[in-house]
Amino acid sequence: MSRVVFLLSVLLISIFLIPREVSSSYAGSASAIINPSKVKQVSWKPRAFVYEGFLTDLECDHLISLAKSELKRSAVADNESGKSKLSEVRTSSGMFIPKNKDPIVSGIEDKISSWTFLPKENGEDIQVLRYEHGQKYDPHYDYFVDKVNIARGGHRIATVLMYLTNVTKGGETVFPNAEEPPTRHRGSERSHDLSECAKKGIAVKPRRGDALLFFSLLPNATPDTESLHAGCPVIEGEKWSATKWIHVDSFDRMVGAGGDCSDQHENCERWAALGECTNNPEYMIGSSDLPGYCRRSCKAC
Ligand SMILES: *[C@@H]1O[C@H](CO)[C@@H](O)[C@H](O)[C@H]1NC(C)=O
Ligand SMILES: *[C@@H]1O[C@H](CO)[C@@H](O)[C@H](O)[C@H]1NC(C)=O
Repeated sequence: MSRVVFLLSVLLISIFLIPREVSSSYAGSASAIINPSKVKQVSWKPRAFVYEGFLTDLECDHLISLAKSELKRSAVADNESGKSKLSEVRTSSGMFIPKNKDPIVSGIEDKISSWTFLPKENGEDIQVLRYEHGQKYDPHYDYFVDKVNIARGGHRIATVLMYLTNVTKGGETVFPNAEEPPTRHRGSERSHDLSECAKKGIAVKPRRGDALLFFSLLPNATPDTESLHAGCPVIEGEKWSATKWIHVDSFDRMVGAGGDCSDQHENCERWAALGECTNNPEYMIGSSDLPGYCRRSCKAC
């Protein structure tokens, strides 16, 4: 009995102490930006959430204007080689905005990192897309199945899809494999507002400034097949969106692809001297598909 009381006190103490510590260490970043009352859960399977008003009008317009001059037909990754190619599966136009391009882009990226708890360096460049009448993206996964794309930063763990414009009709993001949550959230989207495509699953209607976050990996690090999603055809109006794909590991750190023999961490030499090349070869040396961080110090290249 006293053991139960003890455990309960520990639990209560943790509940009261931990949030305080977290909020003080994040003061000025997450707690200052992220307003939990704006976040709505869309689905648990896959894990998907909408943040209402994530971007300001200024941020939306800025992303659109950066993209407007450089749009070109969007590509998809080839299943086997990982190479970029055109496909009828994806008919939008798009371009990438280099990370930290300017203070506004950088601010958006900080905000994404605060919301997702994932480091900024794990994110790819933001991709801005324009879908005109009839354009869409058929159901697909954001995780890759080819080895080339996984080599940089590992799997994509999460996607933040930001809507930059309202769309009069169509253009919803739909999760056709999603499991209905017990309390039907779909009711919150008035179904007469949704296109036929969107009715095939749990759907999110594009609203200027809103952001959709969903996870492509399960907490056990395997791909979540329920994260299958599609961009429904735009029926009326024009849809602009901005996507941030986030990996499990740094996307900024370029892996030494073959010729380049260098260490990726300043402590490599010291770790090698301590025997880590043999004790921890997965991290230090890696494999040909996913090179390790200290190949030079381990004399593996
Ligand atoms: C590529 O993979 C997707 C989903 O994993 C599949 O639907 C599609 O048929 C594949 N394409 C080819 C050319 O193998
Ligand atoms: C977009 O739609 C929302 C309601 O769904 C509305 O409040 C907002 O004013 C609209 N924005 C623009 C730019 O039309």
